[in-house]
Amino acid sequence: MNMHHEQRMGGLSSAAAQNGLLFGTAVCTSDVLAQPLTRAILRDCSIVTPEYEMKWDAVCPNPGFPDYSAADELVSFALANALAVHGHTLWWHESVPPALRTEPEKRFREAAMDHLQATVTRYAGRLHSWDVVNEPLEPADGRADSLRETPFLSAFGPGYIETAFHQASLLDPAAILVLNEMGLEYASPAAEDKRRQMLALLEREKSRGTPIACLGIQSHLTALEQPRNHPELRTFLREVRAMGLTVMITELDVSDHLCPRDRRRRDAIVADTYRAYLDLVLEETEVLAVSTWRLSDDRTWLNGFRPRPDGAPQRPLLYDRAIRRKPAWHEVEHALSKERQPGSDEAPP
Ligand code: G3I
Repeated sequence: MNMHHEQRMGGLSSAAAQNGLLFGTAVCTSDVLAQPLTRAILRDCSIVTPEYEMKWDAVCPNPGFPDYSAADELVSFALANALAVHGHTLWWHESVPPALRTEPEKRFREAAMDHLQATVTRYAGRLHSWDVVNEPLEPADGRADSLRETPFLSAFGPGYIETAFHQASLLDPAAILVLNEMGLEYASPAAEDKRRQMLALLEREKSRGTPIACLGIQSHLTALEQPRNHPELRTFLREVRAMGLTVMITELDVSDHLCPRDRRRRDAIVADTYRAYLDLVLEETEVLAVSTWRLSDDRTWLNGFRPRPDGAPQRPLLYDRAIRRKPAWHEVEHALSKERQPGSDEAPP
């Protein structure tokens, strides 16, 4: 039993390993030497995702002068601790370096392709998987194919997803290539429309031979809004599985901005939301990995994006600010370790 295996005993990654999947979280270089958080990451995780430092705008704030030092540090930390790395993300409209947003399409195409090729080549053979394209759909942009209007779409046309995945697969044939999206989890007409549009997109890309192996479902959930019973999501996950695609839960967290202020009640509602969601997803489809978007409440992006109306700090993650396990940790542990065979009980959703 190697040192890494020993330190993970009793952690979430060993619970997940019982069902052949990975458990992990988003990290930044500031987490690498931040005891006790680092200890919690090493005990609980078997995969990590750079939250920000591997993105195009982080690597290349000044186009033409890429700086991979932070991303390199995260990859070295992970590999030194036998952690897999989920690359995030090669082409995302929100992480296009500002200086390139106004460039002519030809120049943008060159820069985007240079970045993809340089980044995939740099980490080839060392990453578990890549979010090759992030958040491709935006039905509100009004296109028949529901593709989001982005600099990639303008510069490459609707074939940009195919282009990106083919390039990535050529340069790192070992990496699992993921199409990552948000807003597929919710119980709303807009989410159901987006699920339908995602299935149509996956079918189109599949018919073109685009090497998408896995669908990334971000899973930024809201407590008291995410339903326990969610037949539309069950149906969607079965259709994704029927296409021969696996799934990764890539950015799981549970916003508590609708919950009462009382911590005990709030933590219980958040924990129950984690459990119900993971039970549903893990029952319905083949999941390669479950990752939260950071591990401890002091590091969440949600205080900026979804501050609580009462001003109390969010408690959306598995550890509190003092890196103490919360009820959510235990519910996630139960969900990960529960014996199951995806799709085994094909009862109507
Ligand atoms: O590190 C710099 C710091 O040096 C600088 O002083 C500071 C002020 O400008 O910025 C810091 O960088 C910020 C970085 O987070 C680290 O905190 C960036 O400005 C900020 O844009 C970046 O935000 C990230 C955001 O994606 C945009 O990349 C969030 O941390 C991250 O949680 C968020 O994650 C996204 C996923 O990638 C995709 N899905 C949605 C999710 C939440 O928005």
